[in-house]
Amino acid sequence: MISSDQQQLQKQRVAEAALAWVSPDHVLGVGTGSTVNCFIDALGASGIRIEAAVSSSEATTKRLQSHGIHVRELNLAGTLDVYIDGADEFDAYRRLIKGGGGALTREKIIAGASRKFICIVDESKKVGVLGKFPVPIEVIPMARSYIARQLVVMGGQPELREGFITDNGNLILDVHNMDLVDPVATEKKINNLPGVVTCGLFAIRSADIVLMATASGVQEILGIGNQAI
Ligand code: A5P
Repeated sequence: MISSDQQQLQKQRVAEAALAWVSPDHVLGVGTGSTVNCFIDALGASGIRIEAAVSSSEATTKRLQSHGIHVRELNLAGTLDVYIDGADEFDAYRRLIKGGGGALTREKIIAGASRKFICIVDESKKVGVLGKFPVPIEVIPMARSYIARQLVVMGGQPELREGFITDNGNLILDVHNMDLVDPVATEKKINNLPGVVTCGLFAIRSADIVLMATASGVQEILGIGNQAI
């Protein structure tokens, strides 16, 4: 268990390390969350002037713009070279749980539209098997109860994220105790429920590289079999 001060320092370190993946000619995909906030601040302070960013949330858009970074719509940007985002959990195969901040749908769209997805995390996010963190699911409001019942049948315990509306005007169910031994199969099954916009499992489109900050530096994790994990 790392202290919150150590965790914050690790977020800043990994955010700075991610700058190595940014080029001035990039239209860069940018995720959401406290680690990404450190990245945006580091990018703003770096002097690297990227062509534009595609943002995964209203909060990220505001922060990018506060640094004078131009935000472009994904529909006008085409395929992105690089997407940088955090995660709530990752495993040895670079599969993720995301959506703690509720931006999972736009995050998944941008990850899908990017050639390289670089996930930036502190060491507290590493797990053997995904699922300690509840799986966030964005749902169309009228489908909330129906989907919750289906998730119970699948063995999960859904909980409505009280008072939270996504940037897309939908609700979030946080699902505890899902069996995630096969996260690709579970992702497909959840996404197939009518009324689900998407779930926060990023197993079908996993990260290409995880940059993980530790007390002794930032490790680049390319996947199982790599020394770093
Ligand atoms: C936002 O919806 C999430 O997917 C974030 O990427 C994730 O919750 C990680 O956030 P932190 O960097 O704040 O831990």
